[in-house]
Formats: sequence, C-alpha cells, structure tokens
Amino acid sequence: MPQAIRIHQTGGPENMVLEDVEVGQPGPGEVRIRHHAIGLNFIDVYFRTGLYPTPLPAGLGMEGAGVIEAVGEGVTHLKAGDRAAYASAPIGAYCEVRVMPATCVCKLPDAIDFETGAAMMLKGLTAQYLLKKTLPVGGLKAGDFVLFHAAAGGVGLIACQWARALGLQLIGTAGSDAKCALAKANGAAHVINYSTEDFAARVKEITGGKGVKVVYDSVGKDTWDKSLDCLAPFGLMASFGNASGPAPAFAPGILGAKGSLYVTRQTLFTHISSRESTQAMADDLFEVVASGQVKIHIEQRYPLAQVQQAHRDLESRKTTGSSILLP
Ligand SMILES: NC(=O)c1ccc[n+]([C@@H]2O[C@H](COP(=O)([O-])OP(=O)(O)OC[C@H]3O[C@@H](n4cnc5c(N)ncnc54)[C@H](OP(=O)(O)O)[C@@H]3O)[C@@H](O)[C@H]2O)c1
Repeated sequence: MPQAIRIHQTGGPENMVLEDVEVGQPGPGEVRIRHHAIGLNFIDVYFRTGLYPTPLPAGLGMEGAGVIEAVGEGVTHLKAGDRAAYASAPIGAYCEVRVMPATCVCKLPDAIDFETGAAMMLKGLTAQYLLKKTLPVGGLKAGDFVLFHAAAGGVGLIACQWARALGLQLIGTAGSDAKCALAKANGAAHVINYSTEDFAARVKEITGGKGVKVVYDSVGKDTWDKSLDCLAPFGLMASFGNASGPAPAFAPGILGAKGSLYVTRQTLFTHISSRESTQAMADDLFEVVASGQVKIHIEQRYPLAQVQQAHRDLESRKTTGSSILLP
C-alpha cells in the first residue's frame, strides 16, 4: 500500500507518523499524481502545531512534483504520463501518491527537474505575487528599495534573485552572518543581521533616511513593530507569515502617525484560486527559472520517513533555501 505522513493530533514533530493509506481513482476535476519529490514549507509547521486549524487526522504538505497517473472527468490540461508540479490546497503532499484537485497542478517544463519543481512551486509563486502584485501605490520601479525579512530562507532566496532581475534594491535580513552572505550572493543589494543589528536603524542608514517602499514580512511577531519604522511615507507593510509567531494586534492610528502607511496580509491561496491565474503565475516562474535568472537552491534533502528531523531543522532556523522530502 502507498505510504503517507499523517497527524492524529497537533503539536511537535513527533506527531507526524508514516502510515499506509488507500489512494483511489480521481473524481471529476481531480488527478492522481505519483510524487518524485515533495516540498517542505513553513506553512506545514503552522498546520502541524495547530496555529492553522484543520480537521484531524490529517495529512500535511502543499507542494510536490511527479507524474500524473490518471485524470478525472473534466480535466483537460493534464493527461496520464505528464510531468507535473504544484502548490495547492488541500494539505496532504507528504506522501508517495495522492488524489487531488487539478486546478493548481501545472505541467512541468522539460527544462525543470522534479526536485527543482517540488522545491520552487509554493515558494516561487509566493515570490511572484509579492514582487509583482503586492505593490505600493504607484508600483515599484528599478532602483526602489524594499525590505525582505528572512532573505536566506526558501521564499527569501528566490525573492532576492527575482528582485535583482527586476532592478530592485532588496535589503535582506537574516539571522546569522553566514545567512546574510548567502542572501547577498543571491542578489540582495544590502543585508542586515537582525540577530545582532538594529534593522530599522540600518534601513534608515542604507536609504539615506528615506525608508523603503515595501516591507515583505513573514517573520511576524518579532519584526512587526520595527518594520513599520522602516517604511517611507505611504509605504506598504506586506505581512505574509508568522515564523516567530503571529503579528500583534494594532490600532490603525499608528499607520497615520508613521506616515500614512498601508498594511496588507496576503496569502498565496487567494492568488491561485483559479486555473487561469495559477497557470499565468506558474508560466512567469518557469520562465525566470528556465532563463537562469532565478536558481532554486535545494540545500536540504530528507527521506520522507525523516520528516520529523526536517521539521526540527526548519523550525530551529538551521535551514537555508529550499528543503525537499523524497518518497
Ligand atoms: N502568505 C503566503 O502566501 C506565504 C507563502 C509561502 C510562505 N509564507 C511564509 O513565508 C515564510 C518563509 O517560508 P519558507 O517556507 O520559505 O521558510 P524559511 O524562510 O525557509 O524559514 C523560515 C525562516 O524564518 C526565519 N525566522 C525568524 N524568526 C524565526 C523563529 N522564531 N522561528 C523560526 N524561524 C524564524 C528564519 O530565518 P533567519 O534565521 O534568517 O531569521 C527561518 O529560516 C514563512 O513565514 C511562511 O509561512 C507565506
């Protein structure tokens, strides 16, 4: 029987167990995909701990690449034998084979191997909508400063390279000097070690007191307050994650006092709610990767059965770039 990682209760990594599962035929609008590689993402930690609630027992994981084995009625963009990759709900990618909705499953171009596909779909589509669609009033143009937290992480390393390709001056933060060096080598124009430096003061210094047009903040609790101090007047605070815990509640008046700021909380799943928008974003990602402007750094590989260690490494800030699980 095929195997999958499941949780029966939320909590620590030890709650993830490998189990035999039944996998049937795809229904209308669904495909059956056999994974060659599975992506690991911080959102998997939120589901495992219960920060993002889900009915139990549950699978985990929202990113993978492999071969389509069967398609259900009404699926026209894929057929059995196609190479494919996805970032998609519902959770359940930590498995050998699964049946899932076809909407967000995309044909994988020949130039992109399965491991790269699994390492880049969720993180790369996120970098795509952040840098191309989550913009301040008037948009971003070449030379503009943006601040990107956790710049040496999975989403971060892709964003550094993509921002460079767009001509943006990305200021990247990271938790160690080695991670800062990695972000810089991948296109960050400036880097700040936010474990040892006051990042708001450094941003002011780097931008000649002006501040940045956008802060892309996936760290949440630990960076929220100071991030608001990094923004130029009318700047955009784009919150998209909670690696250190959820951002605190705040009174809107503070946005006026700090320069008529804008705030948004974005999630990829709004952007990929239709087949058309998913494919358009994926085509943009495939192009920037195939052109070599963005390289996908797979820095950690784990057998699926070692997923507990993979989560421990991700949560304890030991990882850089992308991590994948191999079924
Ligand atoms: N909303 C969306 O659409 C969306 C989509 C994808 C990802 N995300 C979010 O984007 C972030 C990055 O995702 P990812 O999968 O690529 O993970 P990642 O960046 O590879 O890992 C998270 C990083 O956050 C930093 N961090 C800061 N404080 C932390 C803490 N207290 N505990 C753990 N990590 C901490 C660490 O980097 P340093 O050591 O350098 O600080 C860590 O490596 C996550 O917050 C994720 O939820 C959001």
